[in-house]
Amino acid sequence: MVTDTAAGEGSKLHGSMETPGEDSEGRAYASIDDMWKEELRDGLWYKKAHEWYEDNCPSTVDGVLGGFGSLDQLDVAQSCTFLIELSRNDNVSLGKKTGRCLDCGAGIGRVTKHLLSKFFKTCDLVESNQRLLDKSVEFVALPTVMGERFCVTLQDIVPTQNHYECIWVQWVIIYLTDNDFVRFLERCKRGLKQGGVIVIKENILNFSSKLTFIVDKADSSLTRSDALLRNIFARAGLNVIYCVPQTNFPPEMLPVMTYALVPAEGDTSESQ
Ligand SMILES: C[S@@+](CC[C@H](N)C(=O)[O-])C[C@H]1O[C@@H](n2cnc3c(N)ncnc32)[C@H](O)[C@@H]1O
Repeated sequence: MVTDTAAGEGSKLHGSMETPGEDSEGRAYASIDDMWKEELRDGLWYKKAHEWYEDNCPSTVDGVLGGFGSLDQLDVAQSCTFLIELSRNDNVSLGKKTGRCLDCGAGIGRVTKHLLSKFFKTCDLVESNQRLLDKSVEFVALPTVMGERFCVTLQDIVPTQNHYECIWVQWVIIYLTDNDFVRFLERCKRGLKQGGVIVIKENILNFSSKLTFIVDKADSSLTRSDALLRNIFARAGLNVIYCVPQTNFPPEMLPVMTYALVPAEGDTSESQ
């Protein structure tokens, strides 16, 4: 089911930004609004991704990484450096291993186990697939670190207010419509403690591409350009305070960026 928030997709936003894109079947779109009108018509946007994970994703590291399990250590190594560097920023309070983190689209808890558990005392997990979330208890196997586990979608989750030092969102926002993504970020923003940070780690389009998005029809996912992502962050009233490209992946992979986001000063996001 597409949520009601997606029904009005596309209307507010991009300022003067041009947003050409295409889908995995080679269809070109002049703008992302045109694409949303088309893609949301049958009401199957979220259903397709949900079924894809239910039918195709083994509850293993290789499974949640779509067959690229060999990237796990490379991914974690650079994320670790990212968090260490970020913790040096005077405006964020991270890295003391006292705080609480929310791992969004957590799968089996790969990021929690290999990364977040090293930086936070408690990690809560949000994941829409019950089978993968169930596996996280055995996979993470760190009972003192594992906090609450929420089987809920990112388009519906409402993080507890003023609760988290960090909300980590990796390889999942491709499944959200733009409007649901903005609203998710706004709710995450309210879930942050003073000095907290939202981290988005995601595939992006090549910087040389003239496109701003590509839709994969197989699982209803959307790879966005860096510019489109930044437009969405701004809509949600968030500033990018630190941002690093993944540099250790094989060259045939899509570029991956990690963004640290904090509430903008004098925030004028859509919900305000
Ligand atoms: C590519 S996996 C990444 C898992 C984990 N973040 C990692 O890096 O190991 C994407 C995960 O997001 C979940 N997911 C997909 N759509 C979602 C949604 N709308 N809300 C919450 N989780 C979702 C999938 O079930 C899957 O576990």
